[in-house]
Amino acid sequence: MKRHPVTQEGEIPPGGRKLVSVGSVEIGLFNVGGEVRAYRNACPHAGGPVCLGRISGTSLPSKVYEYIYGMEGRILRCPWHGWEFDLGTGVHIADPETRLKEVPVEAGGLERFPLERTDGTLYVLLPG
Ligand code: FES
Repeated sequence: MKRHPVTQEGEIPPGGRKLVSVGSVEIGLFNVGGEVRAYRNACPHAGGPVCLGRISGTSLPSKVYEYIYGMEGRILRCPWHGWEFDLGTGVHIADPETRLKEVPVEAGGLERFPLERTDGTLYVLLPG
């Protein structure tokens, strides 16, 4: 794994995001409840720029004719076709088998990159 500096500690406020490029890899950094997550900017559905999507909540499982809204600030909605992912875990909210990918890359999901913190700088770790 190779370390690439991507942001300074505190640069991304809670609920905020920052897009960076490391070589040819576009990465979305998200502050989710004080923890920064790093995902590849490629949707598992059709490769859309998922990290540019709206951050919101979503409707939660409920009874017929009942509408329960929740997870505010934890849902990333892909701008191309609306697939929704839990920003904290990378999991597609309707299909837990589809998720933002952990490294190494798995089929069927976005790719999540590990982060390291040294002297106030966050580094993304990429293979190679
Ligand atoms: S490319 Fe993301 S939902 Fe289709």
